[in-house]
Amino acid sequence: MTEFILVAAAWPYANAEIHVGNLCGSYLPADIFARYHRLRGRRVSFVSGTDSHGTPITVRAEAEKSTPYQVYQRFHSGFLNLFQQLGLTYDLFTSTHTQNHMHVARQVFLALKHNGFLYKESQDQWYSVSQQRFLPDRYVEGTCYICGYDGARSDQCDKCGNMLEASQLLNPKSKIDGSTPELKSTEHYFLDLSRLQDLVVEFLKVRESYWRPNVLRQSLGQIQANGLRGRPITRDLEWGIKLPAEALGEGPEWENKCLYVWFEAVIGYLSASIELSQLSGEKDAWRNWWQDAAARTYYFIGKDNIPFHAIIWPAELLGAGEHLDELLGSSAPRPLVLPYDVPANEFMNIESQKISGSHNWAIWGLDFLTRYDPDPLRYYLTVNMPESKDTDWDWDDFYHRNNDELVATWGNLVNRVLSFTFKHWQGVVPDPGELTPLDLDLLRSMEDGFTTVADELEAVRLRAALAEAMRLASEVNKYLDVTAPWQAVKTDKNAAGRAIFTALKAIDSLKILLAPFLPFTSEQLNGFMGYEGSLFGRQYTQPVSDEMGEHLVLRYDHSCATGKWEPSQLRPGQELRQPSPLFRKLEEKIVAEERARLGRPS
Ligand code: MF3
Ligand code: ZN
Repeated sequence: MTEFILVAAAWPYANAEIHVGNLCGSYLPADIFARYHRLRGRRVSFVSGTDSHGTPITVRAEAEKSTPYQVYQRFHSGFLNLFQQLGLTYDLFTSTHTQNHMHVARQVFLALKHNGFLYKESQDQWYSVSQQRFLPDRYVEGTCYICGYDGARSDQCDKCGNMLEASQLLNPKSKIDGSTPELKSTEHYFLDLSRLQDLVVEFLKVRESYWRPNVLRQSLGQIQANGLRGRPITRDLEWGIKLPAEALGEGPEWENKCLYVWFEAVIGYLSASIELSQLSGEKDAWRNWWQDAAARTYYFIGKDNIPFHAIIWPAELLGAGEHLDELLGSSAPRPLVLPYDVPANEFMNIESQKISGSHNWAIWGLDFLTRYDPDPLRYYLTVNMPESKDTDWDWDDFYHRNNDELVATWGNLVNRVLSFTFKHWQGVVPDPGELTPLDLDLLRSMEDGFTTVADELEAVRLRAALAEAMRLASEVNKYLDVTAPWQAVKTDKNAAGRAIFTALKAIDSLKILLAPFLPFTSEQLNGFMGYEGSLFGRQYTQPVSDEMGEHLVLRYDHSCATGKWEPSQLRPGQELRQPSPLFRKLEEKIVAEERARLGRPS
């Protein structure tokens, strides 16, 4: 059985707040998956950080008349705040603006160079005559030459998901002043993807049987249709990771060039793992997740990130080979493991319209949490997770799912059974005597749940996993309809006690089955059930500083966690604690109020 699980979640750009689309696209599924594997006793490393370089940040800084560093700092602290409130238990959430990341990114670059997968070439790039400077990537928008979408950026089209050749963009316009840029020649390093194509195709083919169809279509399908061509991986840009000019033997004209943000951001998964090892004082621990052949690495991303994770990142790893490990200081160098799965999600719309941050057609994570609790958000995003097609956030649906499912099916079940135990058995788990076939059937269903829910989770079908857990909760309600302990207690207290014991035990199991999805309320319920300690570990922040500045990182301490993925071991005589409702019932008027908060669709 696989022991080491790397859970890698997309790195949010430090240029915008996080909305529900981002959350359900990658960060939340990653957390659910990480929590599940921890409950299974596996060694999980859940890493990510702020994607702090590149034109997304510099464009914003220019618009605000501030600096990229200030923009990065501001959004980075907002991310930490949100992730703590929503219980996203990163073992390390760091940033690409660190000395460590810079070092690792440069070593990857140098390893690729050493192995002959980089070449230098002059290329036409968009140049602003008015501003006398190059305009890389997001500085230029125009029409996609593949699908015709007119909001494409020069490096990437959000409509068709393709990586673009900047110089082929149609109707280019500068994002700064709307002027039409000109093409001007500039020299850059290129990643020789054509020479890595066979290896990338082989990597994808081995995974063809279990990857999501959409991810295969946007990787293997694209390669088979168009083939891979060399791509520039440096940019004429100030803000970012400077090239290792000295090691490359390059002159001063290279001092104003940086690594392309996508080239270095994906390296963050590796550099964050290395940083985490350093922070925990086990320098080489990262190798467990990156070099053990049985280790499994999962990359949770949105569909707009597919080519970078399913083609570019594997190509970097394949091209860097074991020489990278040598550059990282190993005396017995080994290659690094390739992604096991890239379970990319589609998009979530809001009220049937595409999310648009700039028009405030969005639900912002931090704002949402000022009015609602985190578990209802996690619940609604999971039942609606866009695993195979785009889905829709609908406020009326949110309201109903909260009241009819979370409150009615699960919360009331818990509250009813626990309160009843206090009323008639002073809060002590009653002795059931001999269980009937009906009781045993229910408990067997719960035990089976530890396999059926796990099977879905293992396959990263989180929606189906949650649906199965909720189906099991409904079974307990049905069981209570039949056994009716509220009636039986008047005539046959033993029968009532037996049903309540059985229901408590089922609830105790459901607490674990639901815990990856609803960690806050499962934790609370664990306390009501009379247990000491907590199911999960503890999140905390820690300041880190180096020559590139100072920031907080988010950490997770698993050592105090007691939760286990196994059926309830509840015994008669256990003393419960006074319960309170796990979920709040919402009023219908929130639907109209929340719709009124939305801006306009794009
Ligand atoms: N910042 C990118 C986005 O939000 C994601 C980058 S994932 C990384 O779309 F691994 F490349 F950093
Ligand atoms: Zn397109």
